[in-house]
This record gives sequence, C-alpha cells and structure tokens, in this order.
Amino acid sequence: MITFKLKLLFLNSEMKKNKFISISEAMNQGSGEVSIRGWVYRERKSNKFAFIVVRDSSDIIQCVFSKADLPEKVWEDAKMLSIESSLKLTGDIKKEPRAPSGYELLVKDLEVVQFAEPFPITKDFSPEFLLDKRHLWIRSRKLTSVFKIKHTVIGAIHKFFRDKGYYEFPPPIFQPMMCEGGSTLFQVKYFNDITYLSQSWQLYAEAMIFALEKVYDVSPTFRAEKSKTSRHLSEFWMAEMEAAWMDLDEVVQAGKDEVKFIVQEVIKNNKNELEILKRDISQLRPAAEKEYPTITYTKALKILEEKENMKVHWGKDLRTIEEERLMEHFDTPVAIIEYPKEVMAFYKMEKKLRPGIKKTDAPGPVALCFDMLAPSGYGEIIGGSQRDTDINELIKYLKKENEDPKKYDWYLDLRRYGSVPHSGYGLGVERIVAWICGLDNIKDAIAFPRTMLRKSP
Ligand code: 4AD
Ligand code: MG
Repeated sequence: MITFKLKLLFLNSEMKKNKFISISEAMNQGSGEVSIRGWVYRERKSNKFAFIVVRDSSDIIQCVFSKADLPEKVWEDAKMLSIESSLKLTGDIKKEPRAPSGYELLVKDLEVVQFAEPFPITKDFSPEFLLDKRHLWIRSRKLTSVFKIKHTVIGAIHKFFRDKGYYEFPPPIFQPMMCEGGSTLFQVKYFNDITYLSQSWQLYAEAMIFALEKVYDVSPTFRAEKSKTSRHLSEFWMAEMEAAWMDLDEVVQAGKDEVKFIVQEVIKNNKNELEILKRDISQLRPAAEKEYPTITYTKALKILEEKENMKVHWGKDLRTIEEERLMEHFDTPVAIIEYPKEVMAFYKMEKKLRPGIKKTDAPGPVALCFDMLAPSGYGEIIGGSQRDTDINELIKYLKKENEDPKKYDWYLDLRRYGSVPHSGYGLGVERIVAWICGLDNIKDAIAFPRTMLRKSP
C-alpha cells in the first residue's frame, strides 16, 4: 500500500512536470510518453481493463487502463469514469489500427478533474431534445466539425476581402429603418422609443463607400421569419460587401470568386471534418474548380418549363421548390440575374436599356440584381445588386412599400452628395456552411439557433 501511494505521489508530480499536448499532437508524436487532458467520450470496462475513449478539441483517442499494471487508486478512479468526466492522463502512445482513431494510449497515470453526473444525452434522441440540450450537444463530433468548418469559412471571407483591399466596416445593429421589408423586422424597446435590429448592413455600407470605397463585414443579422423551413434562422450571420464604381457584372464575379475561394479553403483545411460529417468531397470539388454559370431569371423559367415541366408565372419570385428543381441541372453554384423589378427590394436598380447595355430577354422590367443558388437543394446563398442611384425612383419604391421617405432622408443624402454607381451583396454564412457540410437543417450551422419556435438555450 505504501509503495502504491508513493508511486502515485511520484506519478502525480511527474504529471505536473509534463507538458500537456493535444490528442492530435500526441498522435503525431506517435510513440513514447505523453500527457493529455480532455473528456470521456466513450467508456467500456471489464474486470481487468477499462477502455476509455477520450476527446479534446483536436481529436479522440482510446486509452487503455490495465488493472494489473496500475496503482489501486488509479484503477478505482478509472472504473468510476463516466461519460464527459474531465481528466488528465499520462501514458505511452502507440499505433493501434483497431482503435477508433488509429492510436492507443496505455495509461500510467490518471487525475480525474471531475466525475461527471450521468450525461443526459446517450443515443438516438429526437432533434428537439438535442436542441433543448444544445449547450451539451455542441460537444458532439458532428457539431464540433461543423464549427471548425465555419471557422475556416469566416476566416476565408476575411482573407478574401482583405487581400483585395477591402476595409472591414462593422455596422450598427440598432437601425431605425428597414432594408429588406418591414414584415421581418424585429422591433426593440429603445429607452422611451422603439428601434429595430439589423436586417442587413447594406444601407450603412452604402454610406461608407464614399469614405472607404470597398468595404465588407461579417455581422449578426435578424429577421422575424415566420417560415419554419430548414433554411431560415431568425438570427444569422451575413457577410456583406459593397463597392463604389462597381456594376452588376463585376459584383456577380466577386460573389463567384468569394464562394469558390471559401470552398477551396475548406477542402484544403478541413478534410478530417468533412470525413466525420460523411460529406462526399467529390460533390464539392466542382465548386472549387469550375466556372459558375450566370443565367437570367427569364432563362431560369425556361429551363424549369422545358426540363422540369414547371410553369412559373413571369414576375413571381422563385420558390424553394423551383430553386431546387432548377439546381438539379447544375453541379456548381449558379448566379441568377435580372429578376423582375417589381418583386425586388426598393434599392435594386432597374435595368434601363441604354447604348452599351446588353438587351434583356425579359418581357417586363428587371432589376440589375442577382441571387446565387447552391447546388443540391441548398438554395440561395447570396443576394445582391447594383444600387439605384436615382433619388426619385428610390422614393417611389419606398412609398410602394409603405415606408415614409423622411425616415430615409440620411440614406437619400447619399444620392445628393457625389453619388456614384455602386453594388454589393450579402452571403448567408450559415447557408453556405449548411451546404458545404451537407447538413439537413441550417440550425446545425449555428451553435445556438434562434428560430420562430426557439430562443433558448
Ligand atoms: O437576399 P438577402 O435578403 O439580401 C440582403 O439582405 C441584402 N441587403 C444584401 C446586400 O446586398 N448587401 O440576404 C442575403 C443572404 C441570402 O442570400 C441568404 O443566404 C441569407 O442572407 N439569408 C438568411 N440566412 C439564414 N436565415 C435567414 N432567415 C436568411 N435570410 C437571408
Ligand atoms: Mg434574397
């Protein structure tokens, strides 16, 4: 007993001296003694052995406790380890092809940081239960992988714009007016008044281009979406850009370049995560390698009619089902340009036929706008346009949306003082993450989803 205690004391002081490394670093080292720390991911015990799979943020590893080789206290603690108990371990690492991650740790010492209570999530729970326990479920390998991919996506967005000389401009989140239609505004009490949560950064970016010319952001965005779809959140992150002097063709190209760069970065940096998510990389490759087509809205209707036998009345926005069927004919994202002006937001410029402007194939007025749709039914990932510079048109369309132009006077000033052609777009971060990860529901593209029916945890 005394020797055991001495041995344990010795080991504990040894462990304190050891530098902890991550599980993936330990597996890279591949042999010799290592110290790791993390949480119990899975456990299986017999009279003589305990097989504890430990996870940390980097990976998982099977850790083997042998009763015969361990001090009694270590063995007794190992026997009591429950799922999600936190611990520190020292042991010898070796390759083991039968272990879940190909390596095994033969444990020499264990320090339990906390014995976890019985973990509420075991197996096969309903999606709603997992959303109730979201604060715990974010530890799952699936969600951890999604968040790592999202990290790459957001990093890629910043890199893409910064490398091209754009300035990051963080917007105000309290905004006194709408940008994308009054019906999805979140109203909030503002001292003795009311205001709204941002639906888009755009109107403020349109002010900022007169100072910085090329700006971008990645910001929280709020929409009181009453639709309970697998694509809508009421709080999401939008990555937007706005640039002075830019026309529709140029802004569409910027959107294509950005999305392609994001997919390339994920394929380069997240092979492991895509594998854990069972996402077939060969389905993503075309988006990293090929040119993305541009078609007009009118042409899209033609494809739907001829190839899908779906008749869409010219002048109506595309519905989810129509977008899905259209995209069955493409393996990369597609830019759809020139939607009917009447169903578009007030700020989208109408395409007026002037010398040098390509004729339109449309039977009615169209806007210089575009949506980018993702393949495989993931829907709209980008919405953007060239902005109307005609103050009277802006006022006319604001009034059509029952908005008081006086509330927009500061915005209209931008057309009074040195107005220039300019364009921009917004990319839905969770939409692109959902597509890249191949998720069934956009809720899994954000850690703590907010929808019409969910505002906690
Ligand atoms: O098409 P939207 O509404 O465009 C705008 O807000 C413009 N003001 C952007 C701009 O030109 N600067 O939204 C842009 C993108 C959509 O294409 C979609 O990917 C995403 O934001 N999005 C949503 N994502 C999740 N949940 C929702 N409720 C979303 N609404 C829009
Ligand atoms: Mg849109």
